[in-house]
Amino acid sequence: MDVLEQLENILNKAKVDITNVTSLEKLEQLKIKYLGRKSEISSILKSLGKLAQDIRPIVGKKSNEVKREITALLEKRNQELLESIFTRLETDEKIDITEPGEKVKIGHTHPITQMRIEVEDIFTSMGFSIMSGPEIELEYYNFEALNIPKDHPARDMQDTIWTKDGNLLRTHTSCVQIRTMEKFRPPIRVIAPGRVFRYEETDASHEHTFYQVEGLMIDKDISVSNLIAVMKTMLKEVFHRDVKVRLRPGYFPFVEPGFELDINCLICGGEGCPVCKYSGWVELLPCGLVHPNVLRAGNIDPEEYSGFAFGMGLDRLVMMRYEINDIRLFHSGDLRFLEQF
Ligand code: PHE
Repeated sequence: MDVLEQLENILNKAKVDITNVTSLEKLEQLKIKYLGRKSEISSILKSLGKLAQDIRPIVGKKSNEVKREITALLEKRNQELLESIFTRLETDEKIDITEPGEKVKIGHTHPITQMRIEVEDIFTSMGFSIMSGPEIELEYYNFEALNIPKDHPARDMQDTIWTKDGNLLRTHTSCVQIRTMEKFRPPIRVIAPGRVFRYEETDASHEHTFYQVEGLMIDKDISVSNLIAVMKTMLKEVFHRDVKVRLRPGYFPFVEPGFELDINCLICGGEGCPVCKYSGWVELLPCGLVHPNVLRAGNIDPEEYSGFAFGMGLDRLVMMRYEINDIRLFHSGDLRFLEQF
């Protein structure tokens, strides 16, 4: 019978087409071709009424069988294609989550900044506040108020960089002593970390720009013992061990008496080595009791109050901790150096 044969042919063609198809889009087109409104089967079904009564149910049944079979074939092929897509993805776009990733480089604070923050933490834990002052200073704060008059030879000790309008780049953080006294009344406990500048030829131990931490404590009956106690506490925290200190006389116009504070050499423990030049001691920082003239400049009565002050080189402290032998490395911008911290 013609129509039945036709249906058989449709099924056979569909089998071949569906087996050969390799993409989901093409499969969709086949679905339309074989089962859509304009498909051969559709038109056969539409024209059922024109067939003889006796064969009508046979053709109808056969048509539906073929339809069902093609639907099943399409479904099966659809499944196969989906699976092959995922298998391909698994191999082509395989991600090995155990493979080390690409590291994102992040920076970190400069070793001097790290030390500054550490020192700030130590002093704030002892009740000190943190002060700051300008890097471009008035001559008055850098010299006069600190008991260094114009013709004083001590001005030559610190080679100054002047601005055209007669101001200067502060040569030390001691200026903040006066600025603090102008703002606060005793008891005063402050540190003032900051950048200072000197007109200086650079070498392994000299820079034109470096960092100091000024310390100032003013109260009734402040003596050298208070100074030593605070220094020892600070050093113990910085170097994580007990540090011996000794005071030698040192001259600075703004302290009286003035000292150079030495610590026992941390490299050799005091036995003597090249770092301490076989003396067992290393110079750490200048300090002393605040000169009465300086207290007066800050409007504080030296009969009633006394105080100590110190000026610590922050670069120096970092150099001692890590045994760095050239201060110029700090500003070198050399990552091989900086990445070590
Ligand atoms: N300002 C001094 C300097 O830079 C250091 C210092 C500070 C000395 C405080 C005594 C007291 O050389």
